[in-house]
Amino acid sequence: MKEARFEFNYKVYESISELPEEDQWLLNKAREVTSNAYAPYSKFQVAAVARMSNGEIVTGTNQENASFPVGLCAERVLLASISSSFPGISIEKIAISYKSELQKCDHPISPCGICRQSLQEFESRVNKPVELIMGGMEGPVYVVDSASRLLPLAFTSEELQ
Ligand code: THU
Repeated sequence: MKEARFEFNYKVYESISELPEEDQWLLNKAREVTSNAYAPYSKFQVAAVARMSNGEIVTGTNQENASFPVGLCAERVLLASISSSFPGISIEKIAISYKSELQKCDHPISPCGICRQSLQEFESRVNKPVELIMGGMEGPVYVVDSASRLLPLAFTSEELQ
């Protein structure tokens, strides 16, 4: 027996103002787009905004439903839109933000498990890592250089060949 270890580095910025200007713009866009979320049940409005390698900006927000499991996270709404509008085009980076009237939004959130699985497969399809920029309405910002880092020992399409 031997023990294995998984670890990865990510960047922690004290606030949005420490980010490169382009990334500040993208995170601010995500903050703004949270208003487009349809989240009457959780009141937790999430936005994911992608800068594509062709320069396009694509947005996604969470879309809930009275039948709760029907709801979709912002990240998967974004990926579905990208795959539909720009098939085969890679994503440079995605900024993720959120707002809620029920709590402070002063720290980053990171994608849920299902979204991590979707992000991993997107990266592998287009063969390019997607940088994630995660921040609330204020406070620190985390930057991960590849979404797949958040899903160690992932189940991937390679198992099905
Ligand atoms: N949600 C997202 O859209 N993205 C995440 O990364 C975490 C959670 C949504 C799902 C649900 O509509 C609400 O936030 C509360 O869980």
